[in-house]
Amino acid sequence: GLPERVTVYEVGPRDGLQNESVVVPVEVKAEFVARLAAAGHRVIETTSFVHPKWVPQLADASELLAAVERLPGVRYPVLVPNERGLDRALEHGVQEIAIFASATETFANRNLNRTLESQFTMFEPVVARALEHGLRVRAYVSMCFGDPWEGPTPVAQVVSVGRRLLDLGCYELSLGDTVGVGTAGHVAALIGAFGGPERLAVHFHDTYGQALANTLAALREGVTVVDASTGGIGGCPYAESATGNLATEDLVWMLHGLGVETGLDLRSLVETSTWLATELGRPSPSRVVQALAAG
Ligand code: HMG
Ligand code: MG
Repeated sequence: GLPERVTVYEVGPRDGLQNESVVVPVEVKAEFVARLAAAGHRVIETTSFVHPKWVPQLADASELLAAVERLPGVRYPVLVPNERGLDRALEHGVQEIAIFASATETFANRNLNRTLESQFTMFEPVVARALEHGLRVRAYVSMCFGDPWEGPTPVAQVVSVGRRLLDLGCYELSLGDTVGVGTAGHVAALIGAFGGPERLAVHFHDTYGQALANTLAALREGVTVVDASTGGIGGCPYAESATGNLATEDLVWMLHGLGVETGLDLRSLVETSTWLATELGRPSPSRVVQALAAG
């Protein structure tokens, strides 16, 4: 069976915008976040406290957090790779962070300037201190299905990295298909290898058009938290072949069609994506946005 309700973990302002080459004004980002909350989102990954030279688009993380009105009942997690990032997040009263590890050696090096092993040395004090401060910590593991340099990622390697992150005290592990190469059978096998869906979320990029099929496979395994970006924008600047995330609108269309509750208003999401497309100067890649905006 399928879950009655799914939590959509919105990553548009972070994963969606991080790959944009032209810097989006902080007021536009703040309006994007406000519109997402108004459309019913209860968790909005807002920005990243990474090195500003590594992701220039999100160098305004402090200004953005100051500009966003944080509503009660809405969570505004931010990405944090290291203690410097945690210090910056704490200055802004952030209540939830997400660390992001790699399942492969090459991507650990390219995305974090660390080895597969030394990424844990970087994360351990971050999680320990964050928990001391009463923060919730989510963990991502990237390249769960394959990476452009090493090919398919062995399932056991993903489980090993993922378990270590959960054991640090992270409340949830988001399985990232950073370059969108996964297929539905692989998704079911990976969730099975974790021993079931407990504390797992899924994070699909739609590079190969598999994101929605992969999501359905994960739901059938019992996963109830799905990452998506409104309008389907996004990508990872350190994985050139990555395109946008699963579009929130495409996900909501499928879920509502299946009778699964999300608490989201599809019309408002489409209006938001249409507005954002104008700001970014190019149409949303979401098929549902294209269909509904035209109709
Ligand atoms: P590094 O160069 O090894 O950093 O980068 P370092 O620890 O050697 O420090 C060097 C200098 O940077 C120091 O300054 C630090 O203070 C400063 P100095 O003492 O030389 O003057 N510094 C910072 N400044 C501000 N904020 C910070 C920070 N950290 C160090 N947080 C680092 C290591 C991890 C920082 C770097 O590699 C980095 O920022 N990487 C982030 C890359 C990134 O954001 N990628 C995209 C997100 S991941 C993703 O999209 C995948 C996901 O969506 C899931 C999926 O799809 O699979 C999550
Ligand atoms: Mg991603």
